[in-house]
Amino acid sequence: MIGKIHKQMSHDSWLFSKMATPEYTPFVFLLLLFQSSVWGVPSCHATKPGMLNVHLVPHTHDDVGWLKTVDQYFYGDRNDIQHAGVQYILDSVVDQLLKNPDRRFIYVETAFFYRWWKQQTDDMQNTVKQLVNEGRLEFVNGGWCMSDEATTHYSAVIDQMTMGLRFLNDTFGHCGRPRVAWHIDPFGHAREHASMFAQMGYDGFFFGRLDYQDRNRRMVAREQEMLWRASESLTPPMADLFTGILPNGYNPPEGFCWDQSCDDPPIRDDPDLEDYNVDDVVTRFLHIAHGQALVYKTNHIIMTMGSDFQYENANLWYKNLDKLIRYVNQMQSNGSEVNVLYSTPSCYLQELHRANLTWPLKGDDFFPYADSAHDFWTGYFTSRPALKRYERISNSYLQTCKQLEVLGGPISRKGPFGAGDSETLKKAMAVAQHHDAVSGTEKQHVANDYARKLANGWAHCQVLVSNTLSSLSGSSAPRVYCEHLNISVCPLTETSKKFSVNVYNPLARPVSWPVRLPVNGTAYSISDAKGKAVDSQVVLSVVPVSQLLFQVQAPPLGYSTYSVSLLQNGPPSPPSPLPRAPKAVQNKVWVFIVTLRDFLSYLFCVCLSRYNASDGNNSESIQMSGAYIFRPNTSTPFIISKTAKIETLQEVRQWFSPWVSQVVRLYTDSRALELEWTVGPVPIGDDLGKEVISRLDSSINSSGVFYTDSNGREVLQRRKDYRPTWNLRQSEPIAGNYYPINSRAYIKDDKDQLTVVTDRSQGGGSIQDGSLEIMLHRRLLYDDVRGVGEPLNETSDIYPEGLVVRGRHLLSLSPPATAADTHRPLAQEVVLQPLITFTDGELHPSTRLEVRERFSGLQAVLPPAVHLLTVSQWDQDTVLLRLEHQYQASESKEHSQPVTVNLQKLFSTLDVLGVSEMNLSANQWKDEMTRLDWKAESGTHHTGVTNQLCLLSPLGRMKTADLL
Ligand SMILES: *[C@@H]1O[C@H](CO)[C@@H](O)[C@H](O)[C@H]1NC(C)=O
Ligand SMILES: *[C@@H]1O[C@H](CO)[C@@H](O)[C@H](O)[C@H]1NC(C)=O
Ligand SMILES: *[C@@H]1O[C@H](CO)[C@@H](O)[C@H](O)[C@H]1NC(C)=O
Ligand SMILES: *[C@@H]1O[C@H](CO)[C@@H](O)[C@H](O)[C@H]1NC(C)=O
Ligand SMILES: [Zn+2]
Repeated sequence: MIGKIHKQMSHDSWLFSKMATPEYTPFVFLLLLFQSSVWGVPSCHATKPGMLNVHLVPHTHDDVGWLKTVDQYFYGDRNDIQHAGVQYILDSVVDQLLKNPDRRFIYVETAFFYRWWKQQTDDMQNTVKQLVNEGRLEFVNGGWCMSDEATTHYSAVIDQMTMGLRFLNDTFGHCGRPRVAWHIDPFGHAREHASMFAQMGYDGFFFGRLDYQDRNRRMVAREQEMLWRASESLTPPMADLFTGILPNGYNPPEGFCWDQSCDDPPIRDDPDLEDYNVDDVVTRFLHIAHGQALVYKTNHIIMTMGSDFQYENANLWYKNLDKLIRYVNQMQSNGSEVNVLYSTPSCYLQELHRANLTWPLKGDDFFPYADSAHDFWTGYFTSRPALKRYERISNSYLQTCKQLEVLGGPISRKGPFGAGDSETLKKAMAVAQHHDAVSGTEKQHVANDYARKLANGWAHCQVLVSNTLSSLSGSSAPRVYCEHLNISVCPLTETSKKFSVNVYNPLARPVSWPVRLPVNGTAYSISDAKGKAVDSQVVLSVVPVSQLLFQVQAPPLGYSTYSVSLLQNGPPSPPSPLPRAPKAVQNKVWVFIVTLRDFLSYLFCVCLSRYNASDGNNSESIQMSGAYIFRPNTSTPFIISKTAKIETLQEVRQWFSPWVSQVVRLYTDSRALELEWTVGPVPIGDDLGKEVISRLDSSINSSGVFYTDSNGREVLQRRKDYRPTWNLRQSEPIAGNYYPINSRAYIKDDKDQLTVVTDRSQGGGSIQDGSLEIMLHRRLLYDDVRGVGEPLNETSDIYPEGLVVRGRHLLSLSPPATAADTHRPLAQEVVLQPLITFTDGELHPSTRLEVRERFSGLQAVLPPAVHLLTVSQWDQDTVLLRLEHQYQASESKEHSQPVTVNLQKLFSTLDVLGVSEMNLSANQWKDEMTRLDWKAESGTHHTGVTNQLCLLSPLGRMKTADLL
């Protein structure tokens, strides 16, 4: 299947036309002027062809928050929690690199490097530029952080990578562009990440963690280095990524850690002194090197010389590494065939490429990750569900904020409501992608810090949004943001007799969206932007306030305004329940389903149940459930209550117990059934941790197979007790069958597909045929000994008894052939939800005609297959635009087809004066993108996509000019 983006530029000059596959081919257009540039050639030390070459890679792994906050880590504050100070690491490393030009270092996390760079003198900055130009200091990965792979959404990952890589390019030019992606610590690896890295122009990818059984097999088969074919839709090699597994996680080999935090013996090389140990060190090193060479394919091996927050006193490491290299290489004169050198991942990769071998092909992903039989890291897929949701809506808010910055122009940043910016939220979101942030595996005070940073970012964006909406609408009325609508709190709507509701839609197609507002009246009249009356309903809710419910429509990349006035005071009289409970939730679509197969009657078996967490007191293993690890103490969930107390008003409410409830809703015209779950405070009076799940049991004949998305994009098939690349010995029937769900999961048979769209990342599995379970919330009483040192036992000021979490699942049932046509857009609507803001009082009675109550930033709706991923101000006159074909190859008969977009006629208020195309992370011009080519072993080659039109025809570099 093919996507085609065809753009006709203005009449006089050029035609821009380009073919690509449906998946988001890097349609990244930066509307920007370009300059020609000089390529930096990293200087790698020479290797010896006939010998075993050992590449020593000095490195530090600096978490962008974990046991300490990102700022505490930078300054080295709170060393009582963990001794770690990144500013000292960079000071010390630069100093040591200058002492010996042979030495090398790599740096990874731009969030830290940026903080450090800002504080350096011009002299020091020039010195560091020199080190980078000479390849002595090399950036690898280079995103703002090393993102988590299980719980992140691709949109936020692309943003954080773009931010880090842009800083590196702006600061160091081409020599600062990382060639290698480096995810040494994340707890399992997503295929979509590999696909993104390939489209970002990386030549290779290295990581440290994978399932222990998978690793053992790969060591024996010498398959620790491979070619990952990371997309079923993109034509190879577009999403092919060379992938290597590091030998010791990311640590040095045993006995060779020379950091101040380690206890290994230094090299004592003065024969006149006590304890001369050079012979011993060299012998041990040669032994390890030969052993390692047995499990890799070439005569090059890599050793990661460093670990968490190491090199704070880099002299210790380098002094010993200098000696190690000297003494091991001296043995060559005695016939040793081992050659040790300072190296970097890209120098190592270059040698692997030179080896001109064929590599095994990998098509699935690296989830779930287990480090031994009862230790599955599948708990963090759900850990800290409130933070996961906050991160997800913050992404939606950031995209809206960036769009309104472009649509509003300069007034957005400095306008009637003050100075606003998108930068603060961009940074907060970038930090939140870290593998101990949205993953939920950080200490409580660090989780609080991520949330605080996001809230601060929201505040900055709110000023920007107010400025733009005021400018676009012509109304300067103060804008009110109700951030607690999910718990039915909004003082304005609860007290005001007349207010207006602005609904901004960040998607490139119109949306229709149910709005529920807490109110204190019986009846309201609502009119839309054209003055037309809108149906509404006041619903008596669980909470003491009533809710005003109505459906809003918002245009693409634009807003629509609704006026609301109170007609009748007082609380509504409770409506009379409908005759039979289940029938209470039905609309056109679902009534149809009921007649088809009585779907609703078993839908009420949507059961909220729980696992009791293992407390480590178990004959098979002492592992307990914790922030990282999921380990229930039985393989059947406890039904919290066999019967739910059901209340039927306009919606169905189920109470399973005082701390577990659910509201089931159907909206008119909706394609989906909404399940709003509320869980907490999870009781711990019985001294047992609990992990609460929602289980959907259906009669779908799913034969042990189910499907989950990868970072919100392509969907992967999962099979119970099975891994596509090795013969699994299953040792945890539940936890070993859990996978990350970022935005949706489904089961299907020939006739039906049941899809669940989630509002945040969660873990889940299909343990029984026809059943899909999703973990909602977890509260645990033990630490799981993976370093965080705290039980995952969340409370907050409002919920001192234990956090209460609320969320939504949207269920749709469709024939499999057309299911994607429903769940793709549905998932997008949940990811990029409308922003609802309010103004009090009448909508400018005197000037009502002058107020623009409806606005769209697009000239026309984009085709359903095209998703507008990014609209963001790049610099003063240029805008970064990402368009994405959002359907997977052959997933939709109608939409997995080529589409044409005319960029010239895209925006309603902006003129496109020129276009330049870039890679996915916007740090390389498209026509400068040349990646190393790798050959897959024949036999393992299954391309799937054959259409040759997908091949990129080289485009001449576009002439560009300024936009706006
Ligand atoms: C790489 O190997 C192929 C055979 O597999 C050979 O034809 C080709 O010449 C080799 N290339 C180089 C640069 O050695
Ligand atoms: C709700 O309305 C009633 C009168 O109908 C009034 O007494 C009460 O104060 C109102 N509550 C709020 C929060 O405005
Ligand atoms: C969990 O949190 C509750 C409420 O703050 C507290 O009473 C309890 O001691 C905590 N338990 C553990 C194991 O941390
Ligand atoms: C990278 O930086 C260089 C030097 O500042 C600049 O010329 C080039 O245009 C930048 N590349 C991209 C893709 O922004
Ligand atoms: Zn880490």
